[in-house]
Amino acid sequence: MKIITSVRKMQAWADRRRSEGRCIALVPTMGALHAGHDALVRAALASADDVVVSIFVNPTQFGPREDFNAYPRHFDEDVEILGKLSSGLAVFAPGVEEMYPGGVQADRISVDVGYLSRYLCGAFRQGHFEGVATAVLKLFHACRPHVALFGLKDAQQFVILSRLVRDMLLDIGMVGVPTVRAADGLAFSSRNAYLSPGQRKAAVVVSQAVHGAEEAIGKGEQRRAALVEIMYSILRREDDARVQYADVVDADTLQPIEEISPGQHVLAAVAVYFGSTRLIDSVFAQAPGAACRKI
Ligand code: PAJ
Repeated sequence: MKIITSVRKMQAWADRRRSEGRCIALVPTMGALHAGHDALVRAALASADDVVVSIFVNPTQFGPREDFNAYPRHFDEDVEILGKLSSGLAVFAPGVEEMYPGGVQADRISVDVGYLSRYLCGAFRQGHFEGVATAVLKLFHACRPHVALFGLKDAQQFVILSRLVRDMLLDIGMVGVPTVRAADGLAFSSRNAYLSPGQRKAAVVVSQAVHGAEEAIGKGEQRRAALVEIMYSILRREDDARVQYADVVDADTLQPIEEISPGQHVLAAVAVYFGSTRLIDSVFAQAPGAACRKI
């Protein structure tokens, strides 16, 4: 497996592969790899000639009171996991100085994601999606992929990055990979490692909440208030669960919708604390009925 830490070397590697007519897929990660990341890498291996997995804990997407320093870093284990998936992978693992020359504070030019960060996680994590979009744009420039794969678990992130690609005229195919879940439904996340055994058991309500909303939408429930109440009623089953938000938004604009229209694509999403561990989950759903054609 090839491990590359410099942007220039990464670009040279990608250019060589491109000149040979090979298709490059990029899987951006912050490491601490688990089954969710595995699914992305497997999908990438199935769809491209060369796969680059980036491992970079991006400081600009963490708020001042968030877990940047404590975020799990298991580089050697990650490389071992990736080696088992394919010995032909390239790992791009730059340091902070390589990605943010001159330091993070000096990095004054960043991506503005506009109103897409107004609701859901964006409302509670000031600057988070600007940091994500800025880092991912840099990763795109460093790795020069033809396609990039992201998990639908981080649905707001996926919608924002897809818009980044469209609005910035990037020639990159975006692939969203379905959420990988444990047997009880909990979505795999690097942060699950922080949960106590009791919290881990209780955390099953997180996926139950979004699936409860999905089911109600499928049965024709259109009212935001009713769907939000369904999610809260499931989350209230666990005393340990502290809800940050539970909401239903349009799947493209990420703005709340009071009444879902027939055929409309929506996103039901929650963020829930167990102690100091914050878990998120979401499902994309389409309301039954034919969408009205715009004239
Ligand atoms: P990270 O949390 O490491 O996640 C890397 C990728 O794995 C993301 O696309 C995420 O959506 C996906 N993923 C995580 N858990 C998943 C699961 N259970 N099922 C399917 N996919 C899952 O997301 C980030 O890193 C960062 O914000 C990043 C995009 C790398 C930018 O720094």
